Amino acid sequence: MIQINEHYTEIGNNYLFAEVARRVREYKASHPDKKVISLGIGDVTQAIVPAVIEAIHKATDEMADAKTLRGYAPDAGYDFLIQAILKHDFTDRGIPVEADEIFISDGAKSDTGNIGDILGQDNWVAITDPAYPVYVDTNKMAGRKIELLPCTPENQFVPAFPEKVADVIYLCYPNNPTGTVLTREQLKKWVDYALEHQSLILFDAAYEAFVSQPDIPHSIFEIPGARKTAIEFRSFSKTAGFTGMRAGYTIVPKELTAKTSKGETLSLNAMWKRRQSTKFNGTAYIVQRGAEAVFTPEGQKQIREVIAYYMENAKIIKSGLEALGLTTYGGVNAPYIWAQTPNNMTSWEFFDLLLNKIQVVGTPGSGFGQSGEGFFRFTAFGNREDTLEAVKRIQLAF
Ligand code: MLT
Repeated sequence: MIQINEHYTEIGNNYLFAEVARRVREYKASHPDKKVISLGIGDVTQAIVPAVIEAIHKATDEMADAKTLRGYAPDAGYDFLIQAILKHDFTDRGIPVEADEIFISDGAKSDTGNIGDILGQDNWVAITDPAYPVYVDTNKMAGRKIELLPCTPENQFVPAFPEKVADVIYLCYPNNPTGTVLTREQLKKWVDYALEHQSLILFDAAYEAFVSQPDIPHSIFEIPGARKTAIEFRSFSKTAGFTGMRAGYTIVPKELTAKTSKGETLSLNAMWKRRQSTKFNGTAYIVQRGAEAVFTPEGQKQIREVIAYYMENAKIIKSGLEALGLTTYGGVNAPYIWAQTPNNMTSWEFFDLLLNKIQVVGTPGSGFGQSGEGFFRFTAFGNREDTLEAVKRIQLAF
């Protein structure tokens, strides 16, 4: 008889964005004449930039010739991409990272979910609340105990340290979903906490490219001591429009160690390498060539223009909601606007109202955790026309 992983019974049937998509699909099926605008899931709408497309075409042509064909990719990624990341994102910024600490993957969602493979089930896990649902769901799937760290207007969205000392801590900054950030000083306090308690920080920096203010760290490794205590996740999805192409990378410093139950010390870098080489067969060569082109001068110029376009959307949404008297957060160093729902509506009530009344889709805050109740997330990744139209519809409706 088949035994299931019982922990799956604790996480509900649908992943948040699947549930949103299901409701929207149902609505569209019964209202085929209505134009629904989605500012829900953070999915990109602008074309991948020319420098990347050119690199992808070239790599595709290489695959058409047996002499230049590439078969299986190296498990941790091609050296050309690792070197480009290392130079641009770390060495040139004076951030200490080494080539064999960078693991190319198909994105931060997989890596933030899969990292649990190398961590014991008995770790006490602290996760900010609200949070990207992958953190809570994957830890529940593994049967780990979780302490949620509320992030609300009352604490300026800066989480307090856990009540019980945490072995593993998830931090995502710039934050999804609230769009808020930690300053260097605030992040340093977490690094110091982790060093003091020998905790592991899983730092999701998927949105670092959207940081616009100087005192906001792009990488946790800007903070002294972080190499001993943190793993960082990065993504090309939002930075360069790769949501459909799939590429990201994870940095696991060689200083980072953890103990077996017998007290033996093991390297997490070696363990992640072992995990990836066993369960992951590399990101496609063509995609890695596209990702490499992100770091060329033209690639950088082009992606910065797209990021500026999305951040202009953020401004439009934020000011449009504020003009209605709604309180908003985020949208300055992150492509998400976190808005308080009007008239004390619950997040899902507001979702249903927007969908049914004006055909605008956002993401209910409570889907990201209990502290998200009463909030609603809008993404800045729509196209300009839809973003303006959505804001106009909201303004006319309230
Ligand atoms: C989001 O909307 O939170 C993200 O786009 C989802 C993801 O990156 O998987």
